[in-house]
Amino acid sequence: MKKKIIRIIWYFFDKIPILKNTIYRFYAWRIFEIVPYFKKLIYKAYDKFWFIELLIENKHFDPSKYQINSYKVKLNRINHSIKKKDNILMNLSNLTNDWDSSDSLIPIVETREYTLLESHLIKKIKWEDIGAYNEFIDKITSNQPVAGCSDQREFLSFLNSLENTYQNFKPNKSIEKIKVGIGKGGNFVVFDGLFIVSLLKLLNVKDVIIKVVIRHPLWLKFSSDFLKFQSIHGELYQPLIHPDLRFKSSYTDQRFVIISQNLTIEKGSLLDIGANLAYFCHKFEDLGFDCYAVEIRPSNVHYMKKLRDIEGKKFKIINKSIFDLKEKLDFDIVLALNIFHHFLREKELYQNLIKFLGRLKIRTMYFQPHDPSENIMRNAFVNYDNEQFVGFIIKHSCLNKFELINKQSDGRTRPIYKIFK
Ligand SMILES: C[S@@+](CC[C@H](N)C(=O)[O-])C[C@H]1O[C@@H](n2cnc3c(N)ncnc32)[C@H](O)[C@@H]1O
Repeated sequence: MKKKIIRIIWYFFDKIPILKNTIYRFYAWRIFEIVPYFKKLIYKAYDKFWFIELLIENKHFDPSKYQINSYKVKLNRINHSIKKKDNILMNLSNLTNDWDSSDSLIPIVETREYTLLESHLIKKIKWEDIGAYNEFIDKITSNQPVAGCSDQREFLSFLNSLENTYQNFKPNKSIEKIKVGIGKGGNFVVFDGLFIVSLLKLLNVKDVIIKVVIRHPLWLKFSSDFLKFQSIHGELYQPLIHPDLRFKSSYTDQRFVIISQNLTIEKGSLLDIGANLAYFCHKFEDLGFDCYAVEIRPSNVHYMKKLRDIEGKKFKIINKSIFDLKEKLDFDIVLALNIFHHFLREKELYQNLIKFLGRLKIRTMYFQPHDPSENIMRNAFVNYDNEQFVGFIIKHSCLNKFELINKQSDGRTRPIYKIFK
């Protein structure tokens, strides 16, 4: 009902473009600069009711326009198989939505297929002496084909071909596609090709090509809501980690590659200021860092949490302004990428930034300033050029050296500096 009322109101807005445009303009930064009080008020309201924008947007966002069905993924993303595999590909349309429940899945390493290959290829036990082999033969004898084989000889020849692949494996050799489903949490589940997946796991292969045969409706709903959120806010600031979320972002992995090539420590704590969707926390957690993502907007935090849980990551999420962090600001690394210039726009924020820099007890900061000629800085309280900005950080923090590590990335003239002691 609530949804319906909101939609009806929005329908009228849609019919009166001048009203809609005025509201959109009102929403934009410039009006806030003219009347800064509005900014606080509107952001307060937005942060409480941001989800309404998803309800009022009538357009259906179809993730299938972006999602493709065949692509490469890391093999360590594929850890479960569906238990009842027989004829499953023929009956996909009849599959109930609990196909990805824990009762319906089995870890690949516990399957008979994996056990059989591991026993023979690693433990060097003869096929005939392995319990799983005899179970498969029993299945075949009772007219249930295994891996497409309907007699014992055919099955043995299939196993021998797998053994041959194992012995002579060449990483670039193309392997038939593994058919998977994507569960509600974005997890990849094997529907067909379990022998091959097991073999590739035993070979410690890194990447595989998959073919997606089904996506859980809740995964599609999440993808569609995310797409809607992205479309309302324009492009994404960061690439997405999950390979099935192929939505357009103006940034690539380039910044992470540059920063990670310029690290002076291998492990430690990392604070990402204005983390947005926390892409960097995902990447630095993979490297072994203990990461903290600070992000002011609850809307971003909503998706940040979902994306963290989808990837099974552990980084901490702090939904606050960095200026409201009461905790000790003691970190090995701080990422301040495309964030500090926002605080040059108003006197109060500028003063908060100076206080914040004075509280930091850190070893290194990776800093990405704005391009001073950008339009958004036109009426700013101060507008530093890049090196003036670095000098400002050095003046007000415990850091005293800097190095330009990259002049521009992702086609934008926003350099990256390493500032350190
Ligand atoms: C331009 S984006 C940059 C995102 C990210 N650092 C990057 O470069 O990919 C700035 C982010 O900082 C967040 N933000 C703005 N003011 C903030 C504040 N006072 N405290 C924490 N986050 C803030 C915004 O919501 C937004 O997600």
